[in-house]
Amino acid sequence: MRSQLQLHTLHGGILPPVASDLHERHIEDVVKEALASSVDENGTCSIDAVAVTTKPGMAASLLVGLRHAKQVCQRLGVPLVPIHHMEAHALTLEFPFLVLLISGGHCLLGIAEGVDKFVLLGKTLDDAPGEAFDKIARRLKLSNLAEFSNVSGGHAIEGAAAGGDPSRYHVAEPLLQYKNCDFSFAGIKNSTRAIIIAEENRDGVVGDELLKGVRDLCASVQVAIARHLLRRVIRGIFYYRHQQSFIKSLYFKVVSGGVACNSFIRRSLETGCGPLGVELVAPPPRLCTDNGVMVAWNGVERWSRNLGIVPLEKLQVVDIQ
Ligand code: KG4
Ligand code: ZN
Repeated sequence: MRSQLQLHTLHGGILPPVASDLHERHIEDVVKEALASSVDENGTCSIDAVAVTTKPGMAASLLVGLRHAKQVCQRLGVPLVPIHHMEAHALTLEFPFLVLLISGGHCLLGIAEGVDKFVLLGKTLDDAPGEAFDKIARRLKLSNLAEFSNVSGGHAIEGAAAGGDPSRYHVAEPLLQYKNCDFSFAGIKNSTRAIIIAEENRDGVVGDELLKGVRDLCASVQVAIARHLLRRVIRGIFYYRHQQSFIKSLYFKVVSGGVACNSFIRRSLETGCGPLGVELVAPPPRLCTDNGVMVAWNGVERWSRNLGIVPLEKLQVVDIQ
């Protein structure tokens, strides 16, 4: 397994050319290792199909994966299974289940009714939650603190918030007046920026006092984001139960994407949805962020149901728009 996370963290986010370069540089070794580990002592290869992410994402990176996937398919004579990145985050369980995908690029709330059937209840109208975390962390220069120099913005805010008092600053919860399941995070980012500017204009705040202010503000940001997510999820549960009254309950709620690593957010969703009979199911944090296992697992689900498989002779039809 290879990860680009540390390098992207150093750059304060993903730079598309850096990402595709790294893909290109490492993919051959990754493919070689995977092929080697799938051959048994008799020389039989146990690969039945190759799953590869085809959308949505940065075209240059997606193309690197697709090109290599095609080569492996051609070499082994197995079909290719194109995978939607966000569907891969929504690890499949017993249907139907409610899915909340919260990452650096997306915020989606929906119902997975089947491997191929996803009902969208709401999405972000502006920034993704991870994007807001990253931008606020950058504005607060959290990576200058040794303990946060090597982690993502969201991870740093969670760490800083641990010792903070969320009642000191008021970061307003967005879209309270809108009775739907859409999300917004730009307002949280902007009102946080306004608080930072006001604090910077106060003279003489240095050292520990300054750090305490940063921790308190991070705690407020985290609470505002968690509350907003929970309020929309609860609305989604009621809405769906009302619409689909023949389905008595939603058994599972899956939360995934990098922001789902945040244990305060996980706990808020868990305690908020528990009384509604909706259990929280979340992958372990290392499988919440982008990873190959989720893509492969989605491939297994599709392949075993004969869904969206591209036979070898039709490989050329798989192209990214
Ligand atoms: O799913 P992901 O790996 O990549 C995509 O965006 O698809 O998510 C990355 C995002 C980053 O914005 C990062 O700041 C956020 O997940 N993140 C967190 C935490 N760990 C990573 N956000 C909040 N709390 C965390 N502990
Ligand atoms: Zn992702």
